[in-house]
Amino acid sequence: MSAEYPAMKLNGQTHIVVGGAGYIGSHVCKMIADHGGEPVTFDNFSSGHPHAVRWGPAIDVDLRNAQSLNEALSAYQDASSVIHLASSIEVGIGEKDPAGFYNNNVIGAFNLLEGMRKHGLDRFIFSSTCATYGETNKVPLTEDQNQNPFSVYGKTKLAIEHMIQSYHNAYGLKYITLRYFNASGADPSGEIGEEHDPETHLIPIAMQAAAGLRGKMKIFGTDYETPDGTCVRDYIHVNDIARAHILGLGKFDAGLTNLEVNIGTGNGYSNLEILKMVEEVTGLPLPYDATPRRPGDVTQLFADASKAKAELNFVPQYSDLEYIIRSAWNFHRSRWQL
Ligand code: UFG
Repeated sequence: MSAEYPAMKLNGQTHIVVGGAGYIGSHVCKMIADHGGEPVTFDNFSSGHPHAVRWGPAIDVDLRNAQSLNEALSAYQDASSVIHLASSIEVGIGEKDPAGFYNNNVIGAFNLLEGMRKHGLDRFIFSSTCATYGETNKVPLTEDQNQNPFSVYGKTKLAIEHMIQSYHNAYGLKYITLRYFNASGADPSGEIGEEHDPETHLIPIAMQAAAGLRGKMKIFGTDYETPDGTCVRDYIHVNDIARAHILGLGKFDAGLTNLEVNIGTGNGYSNLEILKMVEEVTGLPLPYDATPRRPGDVTQLFADASKAKAELNFVPQYSDLEYIIRSAWNFHRSRWQL
């Protein structure tokens, strides 16, 4: 699959990428640079990696520390936008540590919005999630349906969505809330990819198990009401997610003031279908055990992707499942020196 990027140019623009050292954030930074802009990473490096910051400067800052955040923002008050991807993300961990999740995600976002207001920064792109919808039978998920998140993680993201809407109404903040579905895959260069520690996500864990870097993997729940009993998710290539940000920046220039939009493919795959594709791509057997459900998981999440097409002209280019798995395997294999 070729790397075709939209013709849009960000020449001379600086964009603050909060969480730019992370998995999705580093791909966003690379794509901003590919379009002629300068990404400035703000990150506390609690889970992001210094080696993933390659396309612009990095500022070591923690959103929970409003004073140091404000100092960092004052150095970049001419930035064209703030893109916020930093948060605690592991659904299972959030169930055990809600205090940590609310503090990092909600207080952190509040400090960031306040800092932006103080420094006259008024364009905001926020990484939200399909996990804000919660358990529902109404799939594919449209943006206007009820949001009733099941997990602490989803609840913190929904709280931030509401805060952003209030800032828009009262203070004129311009925003795009991107509700990502399951980010997956890696940049074809192999330079950056998914590197969580501890890893909790299905595809990298499956690859570790196939590569013999862990024992049998666990499939959490085989009694869901889906065709094969396992959860269904909508896997979208991380570079498609990154593209959605670039398209969003263009829409700000065209006058867009506020938008909530799904960033998914519209296709759902079960956990067992993912495992099968990992086996096919790696050529390795994938040992697993069926275990009880993981707290916080919902049965199925896949997008109605029509609003993203209508509002952002967004159509996934890299999210064919085999390509996703191949690009992820390419990254992990070289990292694990297989
Ligand atoms: N799963 C397993 N075994 C594992 C890991 C995961 O069976 O070892 C299952 C999960 O139970 C779930 C599916 O694989 O059914 C996907 O789980 P992930 O942890 O890979 O992804 P989630 O869907 O839980 O969450 C991810 C991100 C969130 C994002 C969300 C949107 O962590 O940030 O996708 O669905 F919001």
